Amino acid sequence: MTTSMTGFALDPIEKASTDELRALQRKRLASTLRHAYRNSPVYRAKFDEAGVHPDDFTSLEDLAKFPFTTKKDLRDAYPYNMFAVPREQCVRIHASSGTTGKPTVVGYTRNDVDMWSACVARSIRAAGAKPGDIVHVSYGYGLFTGGLGAHYGAEKLGLTVVPFGGGQTERQVQLINDFRPDIIMVTPSYMLAIADEFEKQGIDPRESSLRLGIFGAEPWTNDMRAAIEKRMGIDAVDIYGLSEVIGPGVASECVETKDGPTIWEDHFYPEIINPDTGEPVADGELGELVFTSLTKEALPIVRYRTRDLTRLLPGTARTMRRMEKITGRSDDMMIVRGVNVFPTQIEELILKQAALAPHYQCVLSRSGPMDELAVVVETRPGLHVDTPEARRAAVQLQHDIKAYVGTTALVELRPEGGVERSAGKARRVLDTRAR
Ligand code: DLL
Repeated sequence: MTTSMTGFALDPIEKASTDELRALQRKRLASTLRHAYRNSPVYRAKFDEAGVHPDDFTSLEDLAKFPFTTKKDLRDAYPYNMFAVPREQCVRIHASSGTTGKPTVVGYTRNDVDMWSACVARSIRAAGAKPGDIVHVSYGYGLFTGGLGAHYGAEKLGLTVVPFGGGQTERQVQLINDFRPDIIMVTPSYMLAIADEFEKQGIDPRESSLRLGIFGAEPWTNDMRAAIEKRMGIDAVDIYGLSEVIGPGVASECVETKDGPTIWEDHFYPEIINPDTGEPVADGELGELVFTSLTKEALPIVRYRTRDLTRLLPGTARTMRRMEKITGRSDDMMIVRGVNVFPTQIEELILKQAALAPHYQCVLSRSGPMDELAVVVETRPGLHVDTPEARRAAVQLQHDIKAYVGTTALVELRPEGGVERSAGKARRVLDTRAR
C-alpha cells in the first residue's frame, strides 16, 4: 500500500521552476550528445558529416547545430546498428509496424524500461487515477509499444492491470462488466467500437464501471473527446508518444485542464521546426515536432523528426510545456486539387451531424487528371442510409467540407459496420491513386 500511495504524489520535477528544468535539460542534453557520439557509430558519422561535436553544445540553442534523425536513419540501421549499448544490455526490443519497407527497431536497457514506466505512471496519475484503480488495457501487446507501455506504467503506479490487448470486442465488453475496471487505455477509434458493442449487447455504456479513458496512438479531435465522454460517461484524456522516442507517455494530458498533452520535459526535449526549411520556430508557432531524448541509454534519439504537426504551448497544470492536441501528421495530409486536407478536419464536421456515426474513411482516387476525395461514413446505428434524414446529413456534410475545408468531396453513406474497423489505429486515409 505504501508504495502505491507514494506513487501518487507528483514527482518533484513536475513542480520545479522553469529555470531548474532548463538547467536539468542542458545537463542531460550534453550527456546524451556525448553518449550518442561515443557509443553509436551511426551518430558519430552523422555528427562528423555535419561538422559538429558534442563539445559544441553549451546552451540549449546549440542543439539546432546538430543533425536531425529520421525514420530512414533507423531503417538504414536495421536492426541494431544505431544502438549505443551492446545488444546484450537490452532487456526489450520493440518495433514499429511501418506500412512499407523494414520496421524501425528500438531497444531498451533496464533503466530505459524503468524510465518509460515512470513516464507512463506519471501520465496515468495526471489523467486522474486513484490508488486501488483497475486499468483495462486494450492497446495491442507485442512489438507495438502501446500495450506493454501502458501495462508497465500502470503496474509501476501500483494499480491492478487487466492486460486484455486489442480485438475480441465482445469479450472486452464482458470483461469490463465482470472485472469492473475504473480506467481504460485504448485508441479512441477502438473505444468507439467497444461502445457500439456495449449497445449491441443492450447495455448502456454510461452504466459501466469506467470513470476514465486514456486515449492515444492516433489523431483525434476535441469533438471526438466530447462525443466519447458523453457516450461513455467518462473523462477522456490524450496520451502521446512514439516508439522511436520511447512509446506512449512522452506527453500526456492532465485531467484538470484537458488542454493538450504536457510534455515530460525532464526526459524528452521538444522543438518545433519549419518542416520545409528545418529551422526551429518560436513557441506557439505551428510546425513539425522534433524530440531529443534526455535519459535514454540503448537508443538515444537526437532531434528525431516525428512528422507530427503541432505547436508548443506554455505549461498550465504543470510548469512543463504542453503540445497542442495533434490534428495531423504530415503522412496523413491529403492534397486534393491543391488543397491540404487532414482527416481530423473531416472528423470535426462529421461529429456535427446527429445522423452520422464517427466511423469514417477518406478515399482518394483519380479520375483523369483530377484527384477525387470520397468520405465514406456510417449513419448512426439503426438509421437506414436511404432515409431523408440520412440524405440531408450527407448533403450538409458535403456542403460543410466545401465551406470549411475548401475542397469538393463526395459523401458516401454506409450502414452500421460498413466502414472498416480496427482494433488499434484506425486507417483514416485510403489512397487508391497509385494503383
Ligand atoms: O502509437 C505509441 C502510443 C501508444 C502512443 C499508445 C499513445 C498510446 P507508434 O506506433 O510509433 O507509437 O506511432 C507513433 O502515432 O508519431 C503520431 O503520429 C501518432 N500518435 C501517437 N499518439 C498520438 C496522440 C505509438 N495522442 C505515432 N494524438 C505518432 C495524435 C498520436 N497522434
